[in-house]
Amino acid sequence: MPDFSSNKNITICDHPLIQHKITVLRDRSTGTAKFRKLTNEIAMLMGYEALRDLELEDTEVDGPVEKCISPRIKGKKQVIVPILRAGLGLTDGLLNLLPAAKVGHIGLYRDEETHTPHSYFCKLPGKLERRTIIICDPMLATGGSAIDAVNLIKERGGKRIKFMCIIAAPEGLENLSSAHPDLQIYVGHLDCELNADAYICPGLGDAGDRIFGTK
Ligand code: PRP
Ligand code: URA
Repeated sequence: MPDFSSNKNITICDHPLIQHKITVLRDRSTGTAKFRKLTNEIAMLMGYEALRDLELEDTEVDGPVEKCISPRIKGKKQVIVPILRAGLGLTDGLLNLLPAAKVGHIGLYRDEETHTPHSYFCKLPGKLERRTIIICDPMLATGGSAIDAVNLIKERGGKRIKFMCIIAAPEGLENLSSAHPDLQIYVGHLDCELNADAYICPGLGDAGDRIFGTK
């Protein structure tokens, strides 16, 4: 397994609450409703860490006791970009933290034979170059989908980009961080490897199917 500890742009979120919730997600007996609730809770906990570097600016507040100077988040609204479908499972959790954020959508699916991503949708807000952008997807397997999502955002001007996933395979993390060394990556758990079908082991199965109750 490669050692990612020296890469300052990679954060493995080892908080016990996140680890506990991931364990419940992995359990095959965890049903759709619980799975959805957990993915959103994990997104919120991971988002707290991923948004730690948001810039603040002082503003004057007219409080009930007296006026004071107090900080607010600076700049244009952030953008949350779920990779369809499974990234939708993290979106509400992030919107709990950033209720006014804009939401872009990138549609990608992996070819079952080649495991390479195919793009079918991309709708993003304007002025991306002035916004913090958080791409979310529960699974980083080969890294192909995440790499393409970052490419699409960069082609449209995005600069300050973060990627959040619940489970990553070492192969995917290596590929994504090499393709986009400037990307800040947040991982809930780094798993062991990919199997011959490019599924993460032990992973949690097909995240999209488990979130949407398909298959
Ligand atoms: C899954 C997952 C990621 C991608 C990861 O989506 O949600 O987007 O695979 O694999 P990669 O790192 O090898 O690209 P999938 O293509 O199954 O689509 P879905 O979300 O519509 O089920
Ligand atoms: N996509 C998933 O949903 N799960 C995996 O393990 C790999 C890709």
